[in-house]
Formats: sequence, structure tokens, C-alpha cells
Amino acid sequence: MSNSHQDSLIVRALYNKPNSRPPVWMMRQAGRYLPEYMELRAKTPFLERCYNPEIAAEITMQPLRRFTFDAGIIFSDILLPLHKMGADLHFRQGIGPQIDNPVRTPSDVRALKSFDPLRDLPSPMEAIKICNEQASVPILGFAGAPFTLACYLIEGGGSRDWIHTKRFMWQNPEAFRDLLNRLADAVGAHLQAQADAGAAALQLFDTWAGALSNEDFVEFALPAARRALSFVVDTPTMYFTRDASAFLPHLPDVGATGIALDWRTDMKRARAELGAIPVQGNLDPIALQAPEDILRQKVREIIKSAGPIGHIFNLGHGCVPSTSIDGIHAVLDEVQKWSWES
Ligand code: CP3
Repeated sequence: MSNSHQDSLIVRALYNKPNSRPPVWMMRQAGRYLPEYMELRAKTPFLERCYNPEIAAEITMQPLRRFTFDAGIIFSDILLPLHKMGADLHFRQGIGPQIDNPVRTPSDVRALKSFDPLRDLPSPMEAIKICNEQASVPILGFAGAPFTLACYLIEGGGSRDWIHTKRFMWQNPEAFRDLLNRLADAVGAHLQAQADAGAAALQLFDTWAGALSNEDFVEFALPAARRALSFVVDTPTMYFTRDASAFLPHLPDVGATGIALDWRTDMKRARAELGAIPVQGNLDPIALQAPEDILRQKVREIIKSAGPIGHIFNLGHGCVPSTSIDGIHAVLDEVQKWSWES
């Protein structure tokens, strides 16, 4: 396990230790808005970029060479463990991820293969080791939360309403819970393996849990995410979900070290409802394309609203392909010149 980043801004923020300014990184900081990524993308299919540790490490390093981010996030995808558990996963250009054999019955759940991260998905761990030799900032690992993975597995791809998923959840609650538990055990082991490989902190992405009512969130998504996070020892974790305003007071029960907020969640309200737990966020990713004075003002507002202790600056979701490189430079400049001391 790597302890070399114990005193980094990001790990300090996650332990509520004072920093003179918030650390800053961005979800999807490696990706399609970067010309150097597009060059690699033209040469190698998405899954190969993920499964080849040298390529994954190179893509992780690209934004760290161009920008002054305070952390790197390993290039990989939340859906890879599903692939190894038997999902026929494809990333088709312009369509996004698709699973051609979706889980639709309790026996489909029982047919899923077990997942051992070191045996089945070593590439993120190998990429973390490569990046730790090259990068001067901490490297973050991640995984998808069980509910969000179940959404893709049952739906067979992205969706607006997640109708198959919710039908399955209510028609077969026992099989759905069995599925969530299997996924929790898979991603929990995967998170800890990334920590063992040298990830300084870990993020659990529950992107679609915000599609649930408060009641269903507490009954299904929350205990499954908690089960996944319970595998992690001695490494700080963050839990991200979109549209979480409705269940803010429940989020600390997930058991993560910190909570990552989407941009629609009001930072001041989040602070009031979450208590002392560290927060991450939460600039609207499209604000990177706003006029620079407006962008800088939004950055300052978020920092002020979050306050001096336990804040990691980030977007409220990932960088989109049309993200402006100048916008990223402006955000980094504004955050990194901030001082709580003056
Ligand atoms: O943040 C990073 O830079 C690290 C790498 C990362 C990727 N995906 C690379 C990627 C991370 C952390 C993810 C997480 C992920 N993947 C989530 C959760 C976070 C979120 O964004 O909500 C989800 C839901 C997925 C599933 C997934 N992978 C989707 C829906 C897509 C298509 C998205 C799109 O915008 O087209 C992907 C593909 C993907 N994963 C890309 C990248 C850089 C785009 C690949 C490409 O076309 O080159």
C-alpha cells in the first residue's frame, strides 16, 4: 500500500485536515476533449485502451502533463467488471456502452461469473503502478456502485427511465438484492486491489442512483454501496451520485470518507445537511464553456460555500467532449491561487 500521498492536499481534505486552498481534479479529465486522447482513440478500440495498462497509464498521464491537476484518475471504465462476469459488453461509436445479453431473470443473475480483480482485471492496478512512477500527484482508483452497474446490466445500455431495472427490482426484490450483493463483492474487492496497488483514494460512482425515490434509494442502492465500501481499509473513499438532493441526509450512511456532489445540489445546503463529512464538487461541467469572468466567479462561489475544511474542488459530473481547454486552465488558476490564509 502506498502511503507516500498521505500528506497530499486531496488526502488531507478527505481527513478534514486544513489546507490553504482546495485540491482540484475533474471527473473525465482524461478523454475526448483532449487532442492527444483523440489521436490514441483513432488507433485503438475503447476496451483495448482500458485493458492495456501501458495505454491506460498513458491516457491517465495526458491531462497531468498539460494541466496542474492535484490528482490523476486512472483511465478505465466502471463496466469492465461486468464484462468479466459474463456481460457481452460493447462500446459502439456514437452509441455508448451496450450489453447484448442483458440480465432479465433471476436465473440470469445466478449465471453471472464470480470476479477476482487480480485474476480477471489486473490492468487498472498495473496502470496505477506505472502512473505512480511517473506522476508527482496522487492517483485515484474507482469503481461503479452496485445499483448503477445493475442498471446497465439489466437495461443493456444507457437509459433515461431505467424501466427494466425498476421492474426487475420490484418484481424480483430477492434476486435484485442477490445481484446487488454479487456486484458489491466484485467492486469492493476491486477497490481494495486498487488501493493495494497504490491508489491514494478511491471513488465509487453511483451515477444513476438519483433515478430512485428516497425510499428505494435507502432500501436498495445505499446498503449495496455500503457493502462495497466496507471492503476498503485504510484508504479514503468518495461516493458520487447525480441528483442526490432528495437523499442528502442519508448519504453519510453509505460509509464513504467523503461525498461527491453533482452541480444541481446547492453547496451550502449540502454542507448544512451533511454535517462534517468532506465534500467534493460541484461546478456545472458546461460552465467550463461560459465566459471566463462568469466561470471564475462560479469557482469562487463554490469554494466560499464549501468553506475551508474538507473540500475537494471538482465538476458536478464529467468533462464533456466540447470542454474548453482554456476553461480548465481558468478553473485551475482560480482554485490554485485561492488562499484561506489571507
Ligand atoms: O474520469 C476519468 O477520466 C477516468 C476514466 C473514466 C471513464 N469512465 C472513461 C471513459 C471513468 C471514471 C468512467 C466512469 C464511468 N463510465 C461512469 C460513471 C461516471 C459518469 O460519467 O457518470 C459511467 C456511467 C461509465 C459508463 C460509460 N463509459 C459511458 C456511459 C460511456 C459513454 C459516455 C460518452 O460520453 O460517450 C463510457 C465511455 C467512456 N468511458 C469514455 C471515457 C473517456 C468515452 C470513450 C470514447 O468514446 O473515447
